[in-house]
Amino acid sequence: MKKLRKRIGVLTGGGDCPGLNAVLRAIVKTAQNDFGVEVIGFKDGYEGLIENRFLEIDSRNVSGILARGGTILGTSNRADPFKYPVLQNDDYVYLDRSTQAVRNFESLGLDVLIAIGGDGTMAASAAMARKGLPIVGVPKTIDNDLVGTDVTFGFDSAVVTATEAIDKIHTTAQSHHRVMIVEVMGRYAGWLALYSGLAGGGDIILMPEFPYDIEGVCDAVRTRNAQGKTFSIVVVGEGAKPLGGEMVVARKVKTSPDAIRLGGVSHQVASQIEGLTNIECRVTILGHLLRGGSPTAFDRILATRFGVAAVHMADRGEYGRLVVLRHGQMDSAALDEVAGKLRLVTVDHEMIHTALSLGLCLGNPSDVPFADFYAEQEERQSS
Ligand code: F6P
Repeated sequence: MKKLRKRIGVLTGGGDCPGLNAVLRAIVKTAQNDFGVEVIGFKDGYEGLIENRFLEIDSRNVSGILARGGTILGTSNRADPFKYPVLQNDDYVYLDRSTQAVRNFESLGLDVLIAIGGDGTMAASAAMARKGLPIVGVPKTIDNDLVGTDVTFGFDSAVVTATEAIDKIHTTAQSHHRVMIVEVMGRYAGWLALYSGLAGGGDIILMPEFPYDIEGVCDAVRTRNAQGKTFSIVVVGEGAKPLGGEMVVARKVKTSPDAIRLGGVSHQVASQIEGLTNIECRVTILGHLLRGGSPTAFDRILATRFGVAAVHMADRGEYGRLVVLRHGQMDSAALDEVAGKLRLVTVDHEMIHTALSLGLCLGNPSDVPFADFYAEQEERQSS
């Protein structure tokens, strides 16, 4: 039996990224064309559902937004309905507003809530689904760290922006014979560093998953110089850390479910390389630039497919699940299986082997953690 009868509620939560508006447009068009139902958009993620702030979105306000970055609904990464920050006497107290969220949902006569977001939004959505709210999730994030889906929209656009930046930085690196360090976002996952490092022809890629040995990094720079390549490009994920060391925390946002904001490790890397090699280094931190701008064609299409599929899942009553991409096809996964987990780069990933076969330095000498790869490479060379 068809579940979509009246209205769909939708929200965008967590950090913005290119493609959010493309999903909203797809949801509104599919709701109208395939089911003849209305769409209500909550403002600023779960904040809007809790505080009953919303707007009706129809074909007029989604017209022309396919190529626009950000989200017309606004977003928030500090709106967990179960631990909602409320300012009292100059300090925050955390209240459970999940029942209020359910009440607002019901009073608007909604059939389903489509929650577009990253791991924080999916964790909150999984908990709201357990509370009985009919929810369908849509995965987004430039970090590409959500489990269950091959890729999230937003990632490709961020990779393209980072790659263009690395391309441009190459010219100064070459002209001045410098080591140029480019820091990209990605939080605890190195996907953005790995992809943009490969696409931009980086020489050294440092990812959070593989703590780096600064001596190994300097050796790679020296080796390149000895080969006559008098510059190096180091692409650093913001969560990268030295062997035995910690990630660099730029700030703490105490009202956010994950308070840690990373950033600045590239300054450490630069001063160490400069100190150990005497080669001039410069740092560029790309930061929020990677979340902005128009989505790539890939992200527009993925976001559109996700939006259409999410509305159809809602009509089939497939609640408590999120739409995912698996082997190129639309599929779904349980919110509970995704919430609270991160998809990180693993040592056996084909892209790691690709980088090592190209002779890139991933921050380590031959012992840890790529020992098997190097041993096999050596065996092939000697046979
Ligand atoms: O999750 C997306 C992301 O851009 C991360 O790559 C980054 O660590 C974080 O959000 C930054 O968050 P904020 O916008 O709160 O500084």
